[in-house]
Parts: sequence; structure tokens; C-alpha cells
Amino acid sequence: MRLKSQILTGANPLKTIKARRKTVENTVVVGAQFGDEGKAKITDLLAENADVVIRYQGGSNAGHTVVSNGKKYKFHLIPSGILYENKICFIGAGVVINPLDFQKEMTELISDGVSEAHFKEALKIHPLAHVTMPWHTEIDGYSESALGKNKIGTTKKGIGPTYTDKYARSGIRVEDLFNEETLSEKLDAILPLKNKSLEKVYGLQPYSKEDVTALCRKYRDIFAPFVCFEWQKVLDDTKRNKTILFEGAQGVLLDIDYGTYPYVTSSNPVGGGAAVGASMGPLAIKEVIGVFKAYITRVGEGPFVTELTDETGEKIQKIGAEFGVTTGRARRCGWFDAVIAKYSVLVGGISSIALTKLDVFDTFPEIKLCAAYRNVKTGEVSEYYPTNVYTHKDYEPVYEVFKGWMCDTTNVKSFDGLPDEAKIYLKRLEEVSGAPIKIVSTGPDREQTMFV
Ligand code: IMP
Repeated sequence: MRLKSQILTGANPLKTIKARRKTVENTVVVGAQFGDEGKAKITDLLAENADVVIRYQGGSNAGHTVVSNGKKYKFHLIPSGILYENKICFIGAGVVINPLDFQKEMTELISDGVSEAHFKEALKIHPLAHVTMPWHTEIDGYSESALGKNKIGTTKKGIGPTYTDKYARSGIRVEDLFNEETLSEKLDAILPLKNKSLEKVYGLQPYSKEDVTALCRKYRDIFAPFVCFEWQKVLDDTKRNKTILFEGAQGVLLDIDYGTYPYVTSSNPVGGGAAVGASMGPLAIKEVIGVFKAYITRVGEGPFVTELTDETGEKIQKIGAEFGVTTGRARRCGWFDAVIAKYSVLVGGISSIALTKLDVFDTFPEIKLCAAYRNVKTGEVSEYYPTNVYTHKDYEPVYEVFKGWMCDTTNVKSFDGLPDEAKIYLKRLEEVSGAPIKIVSTGPDREQTMFV
């Protein structure tokens, strides 16, 4: 084990683990709603028992805050496992990386006390991850304005255009930056067409090969200390001998295949996405924990059947501090939607639930849970999720109403210690969602967590 003084600058923000609780199964942490469910806290808790943390999809569109030793740290691309000593943190092949965002995030964490030496030791970037180039961010911004009232409400981080190029087989991968000869060939192949579309379709400036080559050199230098060219050896050893935590970003309802298409992100946050994005295949995964809020929130556009546009929604937003970490946008709020939860458990491959922010309801005399949707045109009631989002305006929630507990749960230490009304709500939530609740969180601190 390295000495703390070797890996740190300034005050020690890193968490030392006195004793591993037990060897746990390889676990995926999946956002089970529209992202922002409080995955960071759950990931941080579970990272304690993992040797390796692998982020498997998304990019700097994600944003979360981890509170460690009373201090807040902001993360977008870098796994929050970096706050522990002796863990490998991998930015996996399924992730898309904007080098400048990566550099900025790292610089901020360094100024918060995590040393450069620790980053070099613990952080690894997969050479097959794709690079977000400046034109991706420009196209994202342009497309959103062009869509007008039909805009997706993206984070404008260039995520969609980066994945578009990946699947169109014209993306630049991290490994490309390290071979000038093949990079030059690649640029000759992709740049003429890219420039044509930048100019003719988007009305944007083209890029010269010289400028892009210079940019790629800069990106290469940013990534150089972290790229794990021996990833096959490292991940083979990881798969055989280590406990892995697979860290997802966004949420199942933002999944490119299963989410509220087209109001989705461009990757696969579902549990299955981890099998591909972390280079391990499905059999490496033993458990998929779906993180749900006790209610539901969404940023950006897109339908949301249980959305509350009244003072109850405002109360949830205010108490739950529902404002985005990446964009600062206010999150739309609504009651827990079990139709979504049941769907998420199915397509997300979720085997157990971590429920966060239960304490937000501590002052609510009445709490509602949507158990089914009623089609207002046909009168039909169903607990299955209608995947065509353009029909969502035809659905209204069928609510079950629960008595609130009207007391503080932020200091409750065990599930048994929760008020009866809260237990009744959770029991029903578990029943209708179709997966057992394993973790309940009633505040941002580690201590405000119950393992059921
Ligand atoms: P993009 O991922 O920036 O392309 O945005 C697509 C949609 O996903 C938009 O509705 C965003 O608000 C949403 N989104 C992307 N990342 C996150 C996240 O980390 N939390 C919540 N919503 C997100």
C-alpha cells in the first residue's frame, strides 16, 4: 500500500478503508428513471467494497456530487471511486470523452486536494473510447436550435453527434491520437465529408487537417498519462480476480433503445450496456442495482405522465434541491411512477432497488404513487409502459394514496426504525416495481443509508 503522503497534496480527501466488509458480487449501478436519481451516493457506498470501478457509457453530460469527509466533489466523466485509495478507476470503452472537459474536471479535483500522482496511479482510460471533437459540440448546439420547439433539451456536450460518428464508423478513438500516421489516414478519410456537412448542412466553419492534427496532439498529451494500452491484460486480471463496480450514467428512461425516444441520450445506460461498455461481457455481472428516487424527476424535454406543475411539484423541487449539476437547469418533478419502475426493472435488468431521497417526503401529509396508466380515449387501464411517447398525452396516472409519516427520517439508522407509514409506502413501491428494495437513503451522508 502506498503512503498517503505520496499520493496526496494538501489535506487528505481520500477515504481509507479500514477493513473490507466482505467480498461482494460484481455489481452494476443503473439509474432507473430519467437520471439524477442519486447514483453517485450509491456508487460511492458500493465502491468501498470494489477493487475496480468502471464507467461504461455516456460522457460529460453526466454530473453528480459526492460528499466525502464533509466536502463536496463534482464529477462528470471520472469515476467517483477516485476518492478512495487503492482502487482502479476505468473510463470504459463505451464512454465518449471530451478531452477539455476531462482536463477541467481533473484540474478541479486536483485543486480540491486529490493529487496528480494519485490520478496517474488510479485512473485509466480505455483506448477504444471515442473522442468528442469540437464539431460534435457545435453540431449539438446547432441541432437543438434548429429543432426549435421539438428540441431534445440536450446538455449540449456533443454527446449525440459523437455517438452518431461512432456508429457511422467515422469517429476518432483515443488510440487514434497516439499514431500520427494512421490518424493522418483517418483524417483524410473522414474530414472531407465532415467539412461538407459542417458547411452545407449546418452552416458551420470547416476544419483544416493541420488544425485538427494540432488539436489531436493536444488531446494526446492530455490523455497520455492515463491511457491503458495494456487494457486486455488489466481487465483480464480484473475479471478473474477482482470485485468490479460498473458505474452507469443517466437512466433507463434516457436509454437510446428503451427510453422515451427521441427524448433520450445516445448511449445504453441499461444494465446490459455495462456488458458491452466495460469490455467484460454479461457473465461478469452478478447484480444490477437500480437507483430510484422516492419520486421522479426529469431535465430536458419529453413526456412525463406523473409530472406535477403545481405547488406540490414545487415543494418536491425545493426540498429535494432538484437543480442539475451539469447545466444548473431546474428539474421537473412528479410522483413515483410504478409503470416506469416495472418497465425499468425489466429492460434495465434490475435485480434490486436502491431508493433515495425518502426524507424529501418527511413533511408531506399525503403521498401518491402511480400504479397504472389510464388511456383517456379508451378508458383502458394498464400497468405496462406505452413506448410510443407521442401517445403519452392520452394517458393519465392511476394513483394510490398513502398517508405521510410527518416526521424526520434523516436520522433513522435502520429499516425497522422507519415510521410505519413509510414502511407501508416502501412495501407497496417494491411490490408494484417487481424488485426487492435493498438500500434506502434519507440524506446525502453515508450514515443516512439503510441496508434492508
Ligand atoms: P444529451 O445526453 O446531452 O444528448 O441529452 C439528452 C437528454 O438526456 C436530455 O434530456 C438531457 O437533459 C438528458 N440527460 C443527459 N445526461 C443527463 C444526466 O446525467 N442526468 C439527467 N439527464 C441527463
